[in-house]
Amino acid sequence: MISMCGIIACVSKEKIPILKTILNSLKKLEYRGYDSVGVAVIDDSLFIQKEPGKIDDVAKNINVNGIFAKVAIGHTRWATHGKPTQKNAHPHSDCTNSIALVHNGIIENYLELKKELLAKGHVFQSETDTEIIAHLLEEELKETHDFFDAFKTMIKKIKGTYAIAVVSKSDPEKIFLAKKDSPLIIGVGKSQNFAASDIPAILEYTRDAIILHDGEIAVLTAESVYIERNNVPIEPKVVKVLWSPEMAQKRGYPHFMLKEIYEQPIALRNTLDIPETELLNAAQTIVDAENIIFIASGTSYHATLHAKNYLIRHLKKPIYSVIASEYDSLKSLVDDTTLLIPVSQSGETMDVIRALNDLKERKANTLAISNVYQSTVARLANHVIYTQAGPEIGVAATKTYTSQVAVLMLLSYTASFLNGSLEQSEYHKYLEKIRKIPVMVEKNILNSELQARQLAQKIKIAESSFYLARGQSIPTAMEGALKMKEIAYIHAESYPAGESKHGPIALVSENFPVFFVAPRDETEKKILGNIEEMKARGANIILVTEAGSVAIPRADTTFILPKMTLTIERAINLIIPLQLVAYYTAVERGYDPDKPRNLAKTVTVD
Ligand code: AGP
Repeated sequence: MISMCGIIACVSKEKIPILKTILNSLKKLEYRGYDSVGVAVIDDSLFIQKEPGKIDDVAKNINVNGIFAKVAIGHTRWATHGKPTQKNAHPHSDCTNSIALVHNGIIENYLELKKELLAKGHVFQSETDTEIIAHLLEEELKETHDFFDAFKTMIKKIKGTYAIAVVSKSDPEKIFLAKKDSPLIIGVGKSQNFAASDIPAILEYTRDAIILHDGEIAVLTAESVYIERNNVPIEPKVVKVLWSPEMAQKRGYPHFMLKEIYEQPIALRNTLDIPETELLNAAQTIVDAENIIFIASGTSYHATLHAKNYLIRHLKKPIYSVIASEYDSLKSLVDDTTLLIPVSQSGETMDVIRALNDLKERKANTLAISNVYQSTVARLANHVIYTQAGPEIGVAATKTYTSQVAVLMLLSYTASFLNGSLEQSEYHKYLEKIRKIPVMVEKNILNSELQARQLAQKIKIAESSFYLARGQSIPTAMEGALKMKEIAYIHAESYPAGESKHGPIALVSENFPVFFVAPRDETEKKILGNIEEMKARGANIILVTEAGSVAIPRADTTFILPKMTLTIERAINLIIPLQLVAYYTAVERGYDPDKPRNLAKTVTVD
């Protein structure tokens, strides 16, 4: 059983209605998984409650205000193997019901450990890999009476990836933590400490965080944090989190996704405000490399395509974008002259981590782009640039995507300037235009909103759709189609418009929605022919274009943006109507856009 989940733990000096805190924090982690939910509270006894379902539904059956205690843990789960049943939900316990634990990751050697434990008479309640940890601890406690010693021995026995939080009746005012490859942070509060998979979970209680690193284990009490690695104590390094709790709330928007679409101007303004030396240094690494490989998944991969397409033309050296899970095909190209650019919003996507770890061994230089401070991908790289989009809770990436595009294109222009392919005066004109992008985006969202809503009402009954573009807009069509698929569950296929007549057009019949991303660049006239081909088959033409486009009279619905000239302006602006259409189509079809089925925000399995 593999899980990809969110964990939370809290230890307080005084007794508090602790499940209120745990469930509140779990809500902020629900994006990591929402198949089942569970909590455990240590008081005079150990109390565990867990159920399949979403947090709000499960919380109805929990006495949230009636349980006062000092220590509790919680878990929200996303299962990839096996069903999300009550028994498989976390927390898991031992045979004596004295230990409770939550886990995010995979225990790879659980089958052999389980065999040994079964032989010793342990009885298992679930099919999970996680449950063996509780029984291993129970077994170790027979040898030692010190729970921390038992915990350390247990950690040595398990192989795989994990963020673990354990509580025990034998040491009831402590939380025991261990981390390897799955994210885990500690929140340092006043007479209260926390552990969580991600920062938004603790923001309401504290902004002082400690990022745990691989191989570290920790013990929390209400007033202390102890960390060690290889039996050697480590001085905890507290960092101030700049995200405010409000940034992770909905602020009146019906969904996080819509709020995050509206946050794009501010996310872009903050992201584009990169200190000059940081920008120049990063751009220099691009210039110095003999070949460059972008590594990313999903939406982040689409963001890399914009930069790759631009850089290939301007730097005239081999540049690739690879889907992280398919990095193997480019392995032989990597050596010490290569620059790897992993791009990951979360910085915890396992496919990206695996690719980076493997390729790095070939002595390549690395420049990470991530939205999460000190994320695994950020820590693995030699250089990092953080997008400043703030926390993104909606599973569908919106503001982090446009922020990635902003950083990648700004870096691309700066690298072109440094290598002489973009003249200084031109570069400065570009920077001037880039400064105006946040305001453009603000207007674009407001102008597109109503039309997106109306269009959603018309296309909500569609079963399938096309997203077509040419040249530099192809990544935008790919991203628009992904948004439609993942939240509205309408099949959406993106294709280079010129290629659509070589097969996909066979699917088109009366009213079939075909989105055209058609800016007024060098492809403007050519794409007109593709629009006519689709129109001739009765397609419903939805056009995202710029003022004055020759295609406007040929479309059924048109999103008209102002005339633009730079790739960065187009890449950021043309996607916005498509984000809004996907959002409103999901809502019209009765789906929750923040929690698309079968998906999790951060994919920590490969
Ligand atoms: C985005 O809408 C998707 N949910 C997904 O494709 C995502 O972009 C992908 O999993 C990569 O995530 P990352 O940027 O955190 O690495």
